[in-house]
Amino acid sequence: MHAKIAVLPGDGIGEDVTGEAKKVLEAVAERFGHQFMFTSALVGGAAIDAFGVPLPEDTLALCRKSDAVLFGAVGGPKWDDPTKPVRPEQGLLGLRKGLGLYANLRPVRLNPLLVDASTIKPEVLAGTDLVVVRELTGGIYFGARGRTDDGKSAYDTMTYTTHEIERVLRVAFELARKRRRHVTSVDKANVLECSRLWRETASQMAAQYPDVQFEHLLVDSCAMHLIRRPASFDVIVTENMFGDILTDEASMLAGSMGMLPSASLGEGTRGLYEPIHGSAPDIAGKGIANPLAAILSSALLLRYSLNLETEAAAVEAAVDQALAEGYRTSDLASPGMRVCGTSEMGNLVAGII
Ligand code: IPM
Ligand code: MG
Repeated sequence: MHAKIAVLPGDGIGEDVTGEAKKVLEAVAERFGHQFMFTSALVGGAAIDAFGVPLPEDTLALCRKSDAVLFGAVGGPKWDDPTKPVRPEQGLLGLRKGLGLYANLRPVRLNPLLVDASTIKPEVLAGTDLVVVRELTGGIYFGARGRTDDGKSAYDTMTYTTHEIERVLRVAFELARKRRRHVTSVDKANVLECSRLWRETASQMAAQYPDVQFEHLLVDSCAMHLIRRPASFDVIVTENMFGDILTDEASMLAGSMGMLPSASLGEGTRGLYEPIHGSAPDIAGKGIANPLAAILSSALLLRYSLNLETEAAAVEAAVDQALAEGYRTSDLASPGMRVCGTSEMGNLVAGII
């Protein structure tokens, strides 16, 4: 197969880890006889430095004509000036919106070998295998915001339409059918009107999926149950900001933020694939960042955008094998393990493929 892949490393460790994911995709191309054409572009702080904007038109245009986007991370202290209106994060938000990627899939699967890396007790973690489906182009992230003229009051607005809610719920229910047929819809319906609309819409959709077990959960309660009984969840579906917060929490169920991949999907097959971790400026360029979340994101790219299931599974198996051989980046290292750096880990996984 021929595929065009846009590579957007962004800032900080985004640059370190995206190179390893690309390396792994190159190994897949060689092993399975595909042709992947990679084109790189700037986004985030790197784009602000070069062009003054976090999402240059050329970058968005490149993504639009690609089959998939491999994304690193954006942000860093250099661009944190609150008096400046441009921020690196706007690059990522603009891409999600511009490409219509409304469903963000964040699978959380605990590799039993990493059980010690988590701060949570092994018996609580055992059997954890869930996916959070996060709404990605609506809600408070994209509502009107601002300050009053006197600067003494600020506002952010959350809006949802039934159309926006339905399409992401549909993704969750269809996904549940391919898994353990259980959906948890998360909201704050005891307080927010958007959540009440969300809840009504979810109940109606659940009626269309009698074969899928369904429950509503309030977001605060979900945050608690996630670390109390993580293995009981299958598919969790929620709005944009709740999904952002719950997935950082859920990442600890997989041992480390450095392990969690994500896929952002819309109507067609084009998707954006990124680790859920940020740009970690404190360790950027040191060659110690864990590239596995980025590498596992490239597996999702193969699965969802290119429909190459065998190849995706090969990447995931190669990651499992590298871990089974005892290799760990420093975020996961424990006594007796073979500590390795970013590119060493990438080389290992690529080599196994
Ligand atoms: C994420 C990140 C982003 C988000 C930031 C960088 C804007 O935290 O993908 O989870 O909040 O969506
Ligand atoms: Mg986040």
